[in-house]
Amino acid sequence: MATTPTKEDYVETIWSLIQNKGYARTVDIADRLGVNSASVSKMIQRLDGDGLLVYERYRGLGMTDEGFQLGQQLSKRHQTLEIFFQYLGIKDPDEIYQTVEGIEHYVNANVLERISALVAYIEQHPEWWNQYSDQLKSI
Ligand code: FE2
Repeated sequence: MATTPTKEDYVETIWSLIQNKGYARTVDIADRLGVNSASVSKMIQRLDGDGLLVYERYRGLGMTDEGFQLGQQLSKRHQTLEIFFQYLGIKDPDEIYQTVEGIEHYVNANVLERISALVAYIEQHPEWWNQYSDQLKSI
């Protein structure tokens, strides 16, 4: 990741590590976000202070209900935006990922709801979208 990860990036990453592996280690968080362990430790303390994480020395990192819900929400937003860019015809998964990472923090609930509605409409009316997609082939 080229830019400094935000608080939201941390919450999303920790949530997804816990979902996939059952736990989130500092080294894995650092690895995914491309930062050093000291930055991760500092952010963990902040998120603990915000009531999103619980850090216990011997038990490791857990999420509060609030943290878990936020992580789930952020991950859903990321996913919706990825699907949206796939529909736009962007094929390279790295390009999609980097673009979503770049813009997701600026997509508020209202914008996300509208993008979700469009994605749902496309899914319900594939022929409508295919007709449009044919126009995109020249791009
Ligand atoms: Fe993300």
